[in-house]
Amino acid sequence: MPALLHLDSSAGPLEHSVSRRLTARFARAWQARHPDADYRHRDLAADPVPLIGPGYASLGIRVERHGAPVPLADVPSFATTPSEHHEWSLTHPLITELHAADTLLLGVPMYNFTVPAALKAWIDRITFPGAHTGRLTATRVVVVAARGGGYGPGTPREPFDFQTPYLRAWFTEHLGVPDAGLRFVHAELTRATDIPALTPYRDLATTSLGTARTTLTALARA
Ligand SMILES: Cc1cc2nc3c(=O)[nH]c(=O)nc-3n(C[C@H](O)[C@H](O)[C@H](O)COP(=O)(O)O)c2cc1C
Repeated sequence: MPALLHLDSSAGPLEHSVSRRLTARFARAWQARHPDADYRHRDLAADPVPLIGPGYASLGIRVERHGAPVPLADVPSFATTPSEHHEWSLTHPLITELHAADTLLLGVPMYNFTVPAALKAWIDRITFPGAHTGRLTATRVVVVAARGGGYGPGTPREPFDFQTPYLRAWFTEHLGVPDAGLRFVHAELTRATDIPALTPYRDLATTSLGTARTTLTALARA
């Protein structure tokens, strides 16, 4: 049965968040196409994943030193302290939840040129060192990236985009998502409506948002 895991990471509420509104659009269209499928929504900003702690680091180091990737079910046998068991109990369900999805939908604002800390906390949790977390070769990933400025190809700010290249590297190198399974949908210049210096770019922002909406609806129905 198809399963969608929908993650949002904007600190802004739905009425102010471009990424939340766009991921909601995808989720609605996807659910209309798959009415009986499994749908999960996790709000990483409202319900943050705890930052990794010392027990995560010490357990991760021990598991990684083992050499061959350790099956998830065997990781607890490497834990030696209550803190390490606790850290694994916070981590394992998130990995399982990700593996149960065949589509991952991610809403990602650009904060200070990169991804929000709320999303990074989730990324650090599920990339457990040394564990056999599996390769997501069959998972389709749709990333909705919203940014206040413009970072498209050829723009002066393109080199400052540490949001899209970072996520692409992590998904392909760490999780094994093939290029063909990874789609980025950008909403550029989201602040052109309210920041005076960006006013000249309002038309570009409108076009970018319109393209993002159309693309997401099509992707959800594909
Ligand atoms: C803490 C913070 C940092 C931001 N940093 C950047 C940035 O580095 N570059 C940029 O273009 N926009 C930046 N913005 C603007 C957001 O990327 C923009 O408002 C985007 O639409 C946020 O996503 P959302 O609408 O889903 O909340 C920042 C906004 C916040 C709140």
